[in-house]
Amino acid sequence: MSTVSGRRLHHLGTHRVLDPVGAMPQSAWQLDNTPVALDNEILCDVEVLNIDSASFKQIADECCRDADRIAAHITAIVAQRGKQHNPVTGSGGMFVGCVREVGQALRGGIDLIPGERIASLVSLTLTPLHIDAVTRVDLTTGRVWIRGQAVLFASALWAKLPHDIDQNVALAVLDVAGAPAQVARLCSPGQTVAIVGADGKSGLLSCAQAKSRVGAAGRVIGIVPDASTPASQLLERLGLVDDLVVADARDALDVSEKVAAIAPALADVVVNCVNVPGTELGSILCAKDDGIVYFFSMSTSFTAAALGAEGVGRDVTMIVGNGYTKGHAGTALQTLRDHPGVHAYFNEKYAQV
Ligand SMILES: NC(=O)c1ccc[n+]([C@@H]2O[C@H](COP(=O)([O-])OP(=O)(O)OC[C@H]3O[C@@H](n4cnc5c(N)ncnc54)[C@H](OP(=O)(O)O)[C@@H]3O)[C@@H](O)[C@H]2O)c1
Repeated sequence: MSTVSGRRLHHLGTHRVLDPVGAMPQSAWQLDNTPVALDNEILCDVEVLNIDSASFKQIADECCRDADRIAAHITAIVAQRGKQHNPVTGSGGMFVGCVREVGQALRGGIDLIPGERIASLVSLTLTPLHIDAVTRVDLTTGRVWIRGQAVLFASALWAKLPHDIDQNVALAVLDVAGAPAQVARLCSPGQTVAIVGADGKSGLLSCAQAKSRVGAAGRVIGIVPDASTPASQLLERLGLVDDLVVADARDALDVSEKVAAIAPALADVVVNCVNVPGTELGSILCAKDDGIVYFFSMSTSFTAAALGAEGVGRDVTMIVGNGYTKGHAGTALQTLRDHPGVHAYFNEKYAQV
């Protein structure tokens, strides 16, 4: 088969867009999720979805943290849109699955054969997904086990699961791979770096990476809502932060004053890793003039960030958290290998099935 409904195959997957015509798969409202491998596609049997944290929190809150209601909600989104693209947060997640079929035109050209297990490194917001059944929802990690199939386009990024890291841990790390990889690129020796939401997945990996990059002359400030959580305690115990600030990042004045009390010149780089809206201005106020604010969070509002920075007269460079950074999967997994204490924490929290 070389077309869907007569549309010309395209390596970016535009042939799967149903609505609106002319949209790219990510911005489209609806994709054709017919579970077949066209010539330039890879069909996978999906085992588990790692729902993006901002999206899972929004769905879980709306469904009163009831697993059955969450399962029904996700099933309904996918039935309606042909992809797990949360219409409220606009975010998706990624999946782990087993390759069922590699399209005719891709065979021999990529290092992938049926039976191999992979993690998708492109968002579920552009991945055609068909769900037969949701078999389990894990409220603590945002993972959703399903029976179903997903389609990867020729342009899609994917990674074979590493042999030395538990598959569920790899899934959790690969979901946020862009954060530590970008931190490695943005931070340099001697700098002050503030990580907002330091106790989450991307926050922990970003702190580990920032600490390695800034070195002894630099300073990493972790901002967390609660100092008593295992992750917050881990940050201090492993020395991944020089200072732990307990603050609600939505309270812009409080968080920035606490950071200023520790680092009066403020941060060279601020990395926002939270999963709630309303933290743009707090992050901006933690950065010095000419500093960098990297918004990895999917809860970030472009309007709030742009108008907020203007309103407080802070000349900062703001970076959208591109989920892809060259070599991001390798950097993220290596960050875990280089920090056995963080690895042990991820094993404890995410390896359980
Ligand atoms: N840019 C991309 O490509 C990309 C890819 C994947 C994910 N993301 C986004 O990145 C963000 C982080 O993802 P993740 O998987 O690392 O999430 P996570 O593990 O859930 O971590 C989020 C952290 O933010 C903390 N937090 C929540 N509210 C806060 C507040 N008011 N003040 C300070 N900290 C607060 C949470 O603390 P508690 O747990 O104590 O509430 C949690 O530790 C999410 O928005 C996610 O959607 C972006």
